[in-house]
Amino acid sequence: MQALGTSGRRGEKNCDVPKLDLESELSQHTMAMLKEHLAEAALEGPEPKENYGLAQFWYSPETAKEILLEALTHFTTGAGTDDTTDIDNGLVAILSAPSLMAPAQELEGGKHLPKLRLFEIDERFGVQWPDNFHRYDYNDATVLPSELLGKIAVFVIDPPRLNMETLREYFLSTRLLARSKADGSCPPCIVVTSTALEEAVRGEFGLRPVKDFEVIHTSKLGNPLQAYTNYPPKHLNDAAWKDCQQENVVFK
Ligand SMILES: C[S@@+](CC[C@H](N)C(=O)[O-])C[C@H]1O[C@@H](n2cnc3c(N)ncnc32)[C@H](O)[C@@H]1O
Repeated sequence: MQALGTSGRRGEKNCDVPKLDLESELSQHTMAMLKEHLAEAALEGPEPKENYGLAQFWYSPETAKEILLEALTHFTTGAGTDDTTDIDNGLVAILSAPSLMAPAQELEGGKHLPKLRLFEIDERFGVQWPDNFHRYDYNDATVLPSELLGKIAVFVIDPPRLNMETLREYFLSTRLLARSKADGSCPPCIVVTSTALEEAVRGEFGLRPVKDFEVIHTSKLGNPLQAYTNYPPKHLNDAAWKDCQQENVVFK
């Protein structure tokens, strides 16, 4: 099995997947057959089969659900927090972590689905989640849907490559999509990447590891990964973070 990539340059195409607009490229009949096939495949498992050429390593269902629940804590109803049903209060951008969509469908009858936006290069997810999907390639990090600029309240990011250069491209997109705040601080970000980047991501993005939470995948990975947040996590509730609550964590 191929490990997650550790290198990659801006502009470099790291996969052989052509850019396809499936709806216009395929005949109605073929498209219908593809949809039928994907619907059948969905019954066999929550996600399309992993494509290691795209560094696809799916979370276990439990891990996907826990990360989703952490993202949704920012929408819990209550004093000083956003109304969970009002998407004008912001959306969740899921950048390259499509496994979060399946638990979102199961949770509370799918009521959170309308506020999720999935940014992903693999167009199979566009067939599966047409109302949520935006084709996204971090090599073209500024190519983003204009209607979503400034609309995202929470980010979940899981890049296919484990280096700072790739992460910077993701954060470039994040800055453009982020709902602006009066104090200039960044929205909550949950990032899954290499344990080896701990120092670098803390210095550059104000991210700290969620040490109490183990990120489990359905396949065995060659590189140890961990979840990071740029705020004290609420649902994942990491003990190490509690000591840092007074620290002013900002989007750098
Ligand atoms: C390490 S996996 C993260 C998946 C996550 N663990 C999950 O279970 O949903 C990397 C993700 O990046 C996507 N990806 C690969 N190349 C990409 C690119 N150039 N731009 C954006 N996303 C890409 C893959 O399709 C995959 O969903």
